Amino acid sequence: METKRENFGSKIGVIAAAAGSAIGLGNIWRFPYVAGENGGAAFLLVYLVFVVGIGVPVMLSEFVIGRRAQSNPVGAFKRLAPKSLWPFAGFVGITAAFTILAFYTTVAGWTLEYLYLTLAGGFDKADKAGLTSQFSSFISSGPRPMFWQMIFMVMTAYIVLKGVKNGIEKYNKILMPLLFGILILLVIRSLTLPNSFEGVHFLFAPDFSKINAEVLLQALGQSFFSLSIGMGTLITYGSYINKKDNLSSTAFSVSVADTLVAVLAGMAIFPAVFAFGITPEAGPSLVFITLPMIFSQMAGGQFFEIIFFVLLAIAALTSTISVLEVVVAYLSEELKLSRAKSTLIAAGSISVLGILCTLSQGPLPKLSIGGMNLFDILEATSATILLPLGGLFIVIFVGWVMKKETVFAEITNEGSLKGRLKMLYLIIIRFIAPVAIALVFLNGVGIFGYGG
Ligand code: PFF
Repeated sequence: METKRENFGSKIGVIAAAAGSAIGLGNIWRFPYVAGENGGAAFLLVYLVFVVGIGVPVMLSEFVIGRRAQSNPVGAFKRLAPKSLWPFAGFVGITAAFTILAFYTTVAGWTLEYLYLTLAGGFDKADKAGLTSQFSSFISSGPRPMFWQMIFMVMTAYIVLKGVKNGIEKYNKILMPLLFGILILLVIRSLTLPNSFEGVHFLFAPDFSKINAEVLLQALGQSFFSLSIGMGTLITYGSYINKKDNLSSTAFSVSVADTLVAVLAGMAIFPAVFAFGITPEAGPSLVFITLPMIFSQMAGGQFFEIIFFVLLAIAALTSTISVLEVVVAYLSEELKLSRAKSTLIAAGSISVLGILCTLSQGPLPKLSIGGMNLFDILEATSATILLPLGGLFIVIFVGWVMKKETVFAEITNEGSLKGRLKMLYLIIIRFIAPVAIALVFLNGVGIFGYGG
């Protein structure tokens, strides 16, 4: 039975949904520690260059594929390149959706536990050793992190089940302004702490000697993860964009919003970190160990801690719904299942992988290879292998397989928009982006030996 495809109801809804996907744990949990580990401002500078030069064109390419084909990632390649091997690129995306959601819901679950602990006043000790042992015993404890992960998955599935307009668009339109409001409050609090300026300096005064090949590649990988590009999320969302909306300006606005949130997250976190005399290279535990320590010493700390973990949970939720939607769109369109059945199957099967991922932090030590547990493996492979590979397929497909006229017709809404930068866009997706992405990919599989 062919049912009519749903569309987003308004341009603002499209931007809220796509920005909701892009803005996530990647901006608030991952960006600050990756930036901290890679030179701060120097990292930010190359990150910005990659977002503008490569991220926006790749995002636009996903929108072009999705809206042209009016289909999920696998179906889109089938329609635009019938009887070819291209649908395989769509399957890379479906695989990435599984791996990303598995470890992402693990971390999202941690944010719920920390929100709960803050509300219940349940931190054992406010010193570093106490918080470190509390965090590591919690994440390795099994049932508890699994419980929160499942709660998170149920919330995600609930919104996806409601559909594109009444679920995804509606919730993003409420949650995204809330997220911005909370973030601004946190930035103000952080900047008004004594000695906060050192953190601002760290984020905005680049030391060019810090820029090396590894920083470049880390920044490119982070920009892919953060913009939600390379796995068909934005092909799927693009397929719901109204034919009258301007795809280029949408891609641009979403990328600006995503980058702004990463920078604001840096401005909420680094000034506070420096104000309390801590070095910023704190790794993935920055948010779950360093920040609770800072909140416990700050005036009004409990309030700011509550809104911080609400912020993280919202950011994560608007991203997880976009990833689940990829699999649900695939199942409902390609296997002709109902939305309810597709959501149940997608959320159920991803949860199995997600639970294994959570348990690999402790109760199931066998789930590891060469010192990396399943969680680490999935995080590393999705960011450094699957997304770059998917992104490479996408730009090659739009640059070299689709007809130039078709691509331009989609970008200009069949000639009704000018599309002034379309030649520049074409050069980027044909030449510059494939080369740059290939470098990230080779790094991811270790050919250049920088590791993932
Ligand atoms: N962009 C999200 C973040 O920064 O947290 C993560 C993500 C969502 C990656 C969707 C990929 C994706 F398709």
